[in-house]
Order: sequence, then structure tokens, then C-alpha cells
Amino acid sequence: MTKENIAVFTFFGATGDLAKRKLYPSLFKLYQKGYLKERFGVLGTSRADWSTDQFKDVVKESISGLESSAEEADKFASHFEYVAHDVTDQPHYSVLLDAIKELDERFDAQGNRVFYLSMAPNFFGEIALNIKSQGLISDNGYNRLVIEKPFGRDYKSAKKLNDELTLTFDEDQIFRIDHYLGKEMIQNIEALRFGNTIIESLWNNRYIDNVQITLSESLGVEERASYYDTSGALRDMVQNHIMQIISQLAMEQPVAFTDADVRVEKVKALRSLRVYSAVEAAGNFVRGQYAAGDEGVDYRDEDGVPEGSNNETFVAGKLLFDNYRWSGVPFYIRTGKKLADKSTRIDVVFKKPLIDIFAFPQQSDATLSANVLTIYVEPKNGFALTVNAKSAGQGFETEPVKLDFYQDEKSEKDVPEPYERLMHDAMEGNSTNFASWSEVAYAWKFVDVIRRLWDIEEPHFPNYLPGSMGPKASDELLERDGRSWVYKLDNK
Ligand code: BG6
Repeated sequence: MTKENIAVFTFFGATGDLAKRKLYPSLFKLYQKGYLKERFGVLGTSRADWSTDQFKDVVKESISGLESSAEEADKFASHFEYVAHDVTDQPHYSVLLDAIKELDERFDAQGNRVFYLSMAPNFFGEIALNIKSQGLISDNGYNRLVIEKPFGRDYKSAKKLNDELTLTFDEDQIFRIDHYLGKEMIQNIEALRFGNTIIESLWNNRYIDNVQITLSESLGVEERASYYDTSGALRDMVQNHIMQIISQLAMEQPVAFTDADVRVEKVKALRSLRVYSAVEAAGNFVRGQYAAGDEGVDYRDEDGVPEGSNNETFVAGKLLFDNYRWSGVPFYIRTGKKLADKSTRIDVVFKKPLIDIFAFPQQSDATLSANVLTIYVEPKNGFALTVNAKSAGQGFETEPVKLDFYQDEKSEKDVPEPYERLMHDAMEGNSTNFASWSEVAYAWKFVDVIRRLWDIEEPHFPNYLPGSMGPKASDELLERDGRSWVYKLDNK
């Protein structure tokens, strides 16, 4: 049964790119599926001097790629209003309040309010404070804050931001978006692990040799160069997405599949992640920056990137957990721009059998391969277990074969977009797939050491070509341990 959600959304940053590309289309899908019906309103606000009609046109334009009739799109857009607003102008919040109240009455939203911050992060704290001091919080429904990344630039700034937010909102009212947590196969990690005896019983350092997480992108920085240059791959992808994935892979089984129980276990996992000294960080993390390929330019020559920038567009690293389950098992991670392809995957590499009984009698050079459980997050949704089997024919050679499952086109079509799922969760008050403050804090403490090191050490950039899988040092990181990346250019 589809349950109707009832709320007034206020989008700060309503004219921005994310709102148009993701937020309005996601709301529309919720509307088409009946999770939103008549009783919702949307107030868009930003500094741009738009009229409500202009705003409605933009909203309709943003959903034009989705299947719908003009009548349905008009009906949906009739729930939207726009007020131009400078977030630093305190008295002007009363205009927002009037508009929210009007939408609430018109659509009978029962005082439920979702404040969505999708704009320059330096205003997040101030907006939250003004929401409270100017009376935008309702006293007859729920009040929730949905906040886009980046959540701070380091632990210190994140803590300051969190302290500001919590003057207005309690932790259970704050929904920190990490869109990776809205992805189907990331959510599937829990199903795979805790729904299958054959997987969870092997999920430890007795049977697992290493875990590899790859978030590769083929695109460069595109139009976001000026933001990206102040962030870099470490802050942009590792501190949030990769740390979230790793905590789901490493956590113990939650008591129940509730947001509170899952959070407790994720935090415990992150607490046992070894925070490196500067020397250890230098040995366990490598960075890269792309050079010009046949067609493009060096990252340093991209529009919007300052000359001679030392910002990293690639990171690879080895992480270790100091706990009973994972002691001695490296988690290797890598992410970068302008790599060979767009691919998000997790490869869990199991230990090889202690003795290869097939090698000796046959005098064969062939050795058994390690079993690998691969979770494909993108571009396809699925997983595969690579096992050794006998090659057909005379003799007794073994070869790795894949037991795999991929969602078919129809299921993939039914899979909600990450933003669609997460906005729905926020209205339901379910924070399982949002980052809690403690998770964010531990992630920053880990990342800060590496950042500080890289801020003072001069790198040798550029050091990788577009279309590759990053700098040589990324391969060497594993080779030093006698291992290699499962996912290679010749092994897609
Ligand atoms: C964002 C980063 O969080 O994730 C971007 O800021 C990156 O730089 C994007 O391109 C990747 O997301 P996805 O869903 O395309 O893998």
C-alpha cells in the first residue's frame, strides 16, 4: 500500500542545478507513484528574482524528460510557489513564513515542514539559526532539515556547523544526504550480508583476504571546476561516499534493521578504523591528478582551475580496522575523475584454499583463483561470485567461473532514483540511509590526517592519463602487499 506523505517543502537553492536535475524530478516521481498526492506544497527560494510562474515553468521543464501528460505536470506544478530571498536578511524570513503558512493551509499539510538546504554550504548554519529565530518551525507537525554535502571541510568546521544546526534541530531531525546511500546496490549490502548465512558466516578475517572499493568516473570536472578545486577527490568522494560504504561493509550485525540500530553499528565500525599518523598516511595513501589526454587539457589548465593547482583528482588508499572481525584485512579504496570508465563496484576477495591439490599431480602451472564476491553498483545493478570449477574436457584443469545475478531492465526501471528514495525516507522520518553526526565526525578525523599531509607536501602532478585507472602508485600500493586490483582495464 502506498502511503500518502503530507508536508510543505522549503527549498533553499531552488534555482540551482541540483534542484532542477534531481530534486524536482524526484518529487514528481513520488507524486506519480502516489507517495505525494494533494497534500503537499513546495516553496522555492533563492536570491534570483524569479516569479512563481517562472519557477513553475522551470519545474515543468525539469520533469519534461519523464513520461507524463501536460495536465499532470500542470497539476504537480500548481503545488509550487516561489519567493526571492537573501538568506542573510533576517527580517525577510517573515515573508517565507507567510508563504509556508499559506501553502500549509491551501494543501492541508498539518504543520509538517521539510527545510531542504541545497546551496552554498557557508550559509547552512545561518539559515538554520534564522529558521528558528524567525519562527519558521511549526509547533503542530514535524520539522526536518535535509542538508546537502559538503558537511564541513574538516572535523573542526564540521563540528562548528553541527553545533549551529543543533541549536535549531535535534539529531533525529537532521537528514544529511549522501546520495550513495540511496543507491540500490549499496542498500543491498545489508541484504546480502545479513540475509545470507553463506555470506555472513564467511565475512571476517578468517576467510576474507582483502576488500576493494572502486568509484571510478570517466567524466572530468566539467562545469564544477571552481568547487572541485577547493574540495578534491578526498573530500568530494572519500570522506562521505566511500566512508559510508566501508562502514556498511565492516559493521557488525545490527540488532534490528532500524535506523537507530544500524547507526550504532556503523559508528562502532568507524571507531575501530585505524587513524593514521602522518607517516602511516604517506605510506598508505596515494593521490593523482590527470594530464591532458588526446583531446582534453591538463586538469591544471581546465577553465576555473587556478594555474599550478595541486588539487587531487584521484585517491587510492589502504584502510585497516583494529577489531576482532577485520584485524589484518586491508580495505583498498580508489576513486578518480577521467578514468577508464564510470564504474562503482566492491570486490570482496576471499582467501585461497590453503592447499591446491590440483596443481601437483598434473604438474600444472595453473593455480586456483581466489573467490571474489563482486557487488556491482553502477552502471549495472547486480553481484557475482567467482568460484573455481573444472574446465570442460579431458584432464583436470580448473578455471574461475561466475555465478551472477543482474537486475533486468524492468526491475532497474522500477528502482527509485537515490534522491527519490531519500526524500521519501526524510518525509517518513527514517534516517537509516542518512549520515549521522558521529559517522561524519569519525570520517573527518580519519581524512584530516591525510589532508594535512597533502596540504604541506608538494606532489608530482600530473601523474595519470585520462582513460587509465589512475597513477602507477595506485597499483603499487597493492603490489607491495602481494595483491592487485581485481578490476583492471583488461578485466571489466
Ligand atoms: C558527488 C561528487 O557527490 O558524486 C561528484 O560531488 C561525483 O564529483 C558524484 O561526480 C558521483 O556520483 P554518481 O552517483 O554519479 O556516482
